[in-house]
Amino acid sequence: MPVRRPFVLATLPVAVTALLAAAAPPSPGSSGAGDPYFPLAGNGGYDVRHYDLTLRYDTGTRHLDGKAVITARATQDLSRFDLDLSGLKVTGLTVGRDKADFTRKGQELVVTPRRSLRKGQWFKVTVTYRGTPRPVTDPDGSPDGWIPTDDGAFVAGEPQGAMTWFPANNHPKDKASYDFTITVPENRTAVANGVLAGRHTAHGHTTFRWHQAEPMAAYLATATVGKFEVEQYTTRDGIRVYNAVDPREAATAAPVLKKLPSVLEWESRLFGPYPYRAAGAIVDRAPDVGYALETQTRPVYDSAPDLATLVHESAHQWFGDSVSLTSWKDIWLNEGFATYAEWLYSEQHGGDSAQKTFDELYARPASDALWEFPPGDPGSGADIFGEPVYARGAMALHALRRAVGDQVFLRVLRAWATEHRDGHGTTAGFVRLAERESGKDLNALLRTWVYQDGKPAAP
Ligand code: ARG
Ligand code: ZN
Repeated sequence: MPVRRPFVLATLPVAVTALLAAAAPPSPGSSGAGDPYFPLAGNGGYDVRHYDLTLRYDTGTRHLDGKAVITARATQDLSRFDLDLSGLKVTGLTVGRDKADFTRKGQELVVTPRRSLRKGQWFKVTVTYRGTPRPVTDPDGSPDGWIPTDDGAFVAGEPQGAMTWFPANNHPKDKASYDFTITVPENRTAVANGVLAGRHTAHGHTTFRWHQAEPMAAYLATATVGKFEVEQYTTRDGIRVYNAVDPREAATAAPVLKKLPSVLEWESRLFGPYPYRAAGAIVDRAPDVGYALETQTRPVYDSAPDLATLVHESAHQWFGDSVSLTSWKDIWLNEGFATYAEWLYSEQHGGDSAQKTFDELYARPASDALWEFPPGDPGSGADIFGEPVYARGAMALHALRRAVGDQVFLRVLRAWATEHRDGHGTTAGFVRLAERESGKDLNALLRTWVYQDGKPAAP
């Protein structure tokens, strides 16, 4: 049937117009998920359910061979769709059983299936690819993605780096389960998210299989490779712990890692049940990285962490990982909450009270960088990891605690983690939930602390 010209529509009765709209030709999915800070991150027109990633990494040549099988569902009639992939060479691409056409345009891998996809249709995309992964440089200047180290690679993807090592719908709005099959030289260990599902060695190489059952945002995936000392155990709550530690960091890391079960228990008492069946830590030696990341179930540290950092990355398992962002602008929902967990931990373990930490921060002059922008509006991707997001974000939670009292405050945190478990949150949703739990109008207080420019008046 020839495509009708739109001007015809205006002259037709409503029912006929609706019929024609239903017959509208399939259209391309958008090249981004609509995030103003990272317009090309993620894509439109489909929803990923599962990533099955098979990787082989040569730590000597830094060459990566990859195959990604992506199970997704079309959310519109799709003539073509994008994946995000930065660098690397695509050597084959099929949709279902058919070879599909594809082009590369910056970070967009544009896929045109032989037959267009119907809204609601499930489909599988298989991408084979290879090359030397290169990290991306974030707007704040830090490296992000597949970051080579002297014995492997430190792999972390917040906010953008997932696309440096697998084709993804690279925005936290789209969460999926994962399987990883990673082959590395026999004297190396490959550590991903979730539970270790198998491991075997042949011909000088070891293959590790990892299964991440609960939905995960692409930026929280890891496949860190190195020479590691491995420790495995199950906690009293039945959580399977897998720690991988660079031997050069082991002595410093040991006393902190020993506390992981008690930190998770303490956080579970505060925030509700730990959201995952697996836990652990990857302690690497990655001097060029400069940060740790709350990779799901198993945070990755660029060197032996201190206890506060362990508490922080563990708290992210509830706030950031299980309850995901809908938009990067809301990053304080991750960083402010994880920072506040550090304050609470200190307060309940013989350190400074949260009030004391708040007061010391509040004493900083109005010209201090802490007040440069409000935590709920960093303005661009360059500032999403700035101090106002972490410290003033935590101050906003402390102001809330003061306004509603300790008991209601903890109820709010727990309800937030429980009601959005394996899902998403927004700042507006958090304010609504806090108001519901407290029965108070908190709009003005949260506006002041989360959105208002400059140093707020004394609370
Ligand atoms: N979310 C990490 C944390 O726990 C910080 C990640 C920083 N990433 C970056 N590309 N600068 O604080
Ligand atoms: Zn954090």
